[in-house]
Amino acid sequence: MGSFTSDTESLVRQLQAVVDHPEQFRSHGPELTRLARRAALILESPFEKMQRLAHSGTPLVCVRISQDRGILKALLDDAKDGRSSTATADLASRAKLDQAVLETILEYLATQGFIDRISAVEYRPTKTTPLLLSPIFSHGVTHFHDSCQPALLALNSFLTQPGKAHTAFELGQNSPEGFYQWMETHPVQQNAFHQFMKLQFASLPTWLDVVDFQRDFAQGLEPNTPLFVDVGGGNGQQCASLLEKYPQLGGRIVLQDLKSIVATAITDDRVERMEHDFFTEQPVKHARAYYFRQIFHNHDKEACLRILGAHVSAMGPDSVLLIDDKVIPDEDTLRSEYTTALGVHMLAMFNALERRESQWQALLAEAGLRIKAIERFTQFGDSIIVVEKSTSGSVCS
Ligand SMILES: C[S@@+](CC[C@H](N)C(=O)[O-])C[C@H]1O[C@@H](n2cnc3c(N)ncnc32)[C@H](O)[C@@H]1O
Repeated sequence: MGSFTSDTESLVRQLQAVVDHPEQFRSHGPELTRLARRAALILESPFEKMQRLAHSGTPLVCVRISQDRGILKALLDDAKDGRSSTATADLASRAKLDQAVLETILEYLATQGFIDRISAVEYRPTKTTPLLLSPIFSHGVTHFHDSCQPALLALNSFLTQPGKAHTAFELGQNSPEGFYQWMETHPVQQNAFHQFMKLQFASLPTWLDVVDFQRDFAQGLEPNTPLFVDVGGGNGQQCASLLEKYPQLGGRIVLQDLKSIVATAITDDRVERMEHDFFTEQPVKHARAYYFRQIFHNHDKEACLRILGAHVSAMGPDSVLLIDDKVIPDEDTLRSEYTTALGVHMLAMFNALERRESQWQALLAEAGLRIKAIERFTQFGDSIIVVEKSTSGSVCS
C-alpha cells in the first residue's frame, strides 16, 4: 500500500508537470494523449460520463458563437493593445449580445481552456485563443456546426424512418437537396467546406509521398495525352500539388467538378478546368490516371458503381484509377476515434461509409476492376488505391 501511494503521488506530480510544461513532453505527445484520455475515461464516475455525453455538442456551438460574434477577436485585440483583461459589459456591446447571455457562454469557454476567466465580469485570451481563429479552425467549426451537426442529430430519426429522406443530412437540414447541391445556395458553408478540405490535410503526408507519379504514369507522353484527371477535384489543390512536385510534367492535366467549384479553383493555366458530373460518362478518354480524392466515401455502393461504370468505359490499356480514400484494415484493433467518427459522419451526411479493405475489394471487383496496389500514407488509414481493369477476374493487393 505504501509503495502504491508513493507511485500514485509520483504519477500525480508527473501529470502536473505535463500540464505546467507541455513543451517538455511533446516528443511523447501521441502516446501520452492516448493513455491520458483512456485513463480519464476509465476513472470518470457514471455521473461524469453521463454529463460528458450529454454536453458533447456544447464546445462546437460555443466556439461557433464566439467566432461569429467576434468575441475571441475582441479579446485578442484588447490583449494586443496591452489591456490585461476585457470587461464583459464592454464585450457584450461589441458582440451585440445580452451581457448575461454572453457571460454564460464565456464561463463555458473558460472551462475548456479557450479563454481565461479573471473574474465573473473579466476575461482574457489564452494561448489557445488564436488557434481558434486560425483558418483551419474557423472554416472547420463553421462546416461541422452549420452543415454536419444537424445531420448527426437527425441520424437516429433517419435510421428509424429511412423512407422520409435520402440522407440524415436532408432530414436535419429540412432540405430536399443533398449536401453538395445544398451548398450551391449556401456560399458561406460552401467556402468553409472547401477551405477546410484544403487545410485539414496540410500537415499530413499525401499520396504524392508514396507514388512516384512521373515514373509510373508519365512515361512516353505526347503533349495532348490526357495524363491526370482530378475527378470531383474541388478547388484543384491536388492538381496544383502534382505540378509543384513535377513542374516539367507533360500531357494534359484536367480538373473536373461542379460548375461553381471549377470556376473558383486555385489552379493556373496549365490545368484545364472542366465542368463535369461524375455520374455521367467520362468525356476525357484513355487518361493515364483518373484520380478520386475523398469521393467514394461520400457515396453508397450503388452510387459508387455508377461513378466507376462511367469511368470503366473511358479507360484505355494504360489507364488506372487512383482512389485516394481511407482503407481501414479488416483486422485493425487500434482504430482511431477520428477515423471511426468520420465513418459515422459519412453515414449521417451521405448514407455512406469509410470502407474496410475487403469492402473495397468487393466493390471494385463488382465494377470489373482489380486492385493493383494499396499504399497507405497516414496513420489514419488514408491510402492510395491503384486500380486497373480486371482481365482475369483475379484480385490481389
Ligand atoms: C469531399 S469533396 C473532395 C474534393 C477534392 N477531391 C479534395 O479532396 O479536396 C467532394 C467533391 O466532389 C464534388 N462533387 C459532388 N458531386 C459531384 C458530381 N456529381 N460531379 C462532380 N463533382 C461532384 C464536390 O463539389 C466536391 O468538390
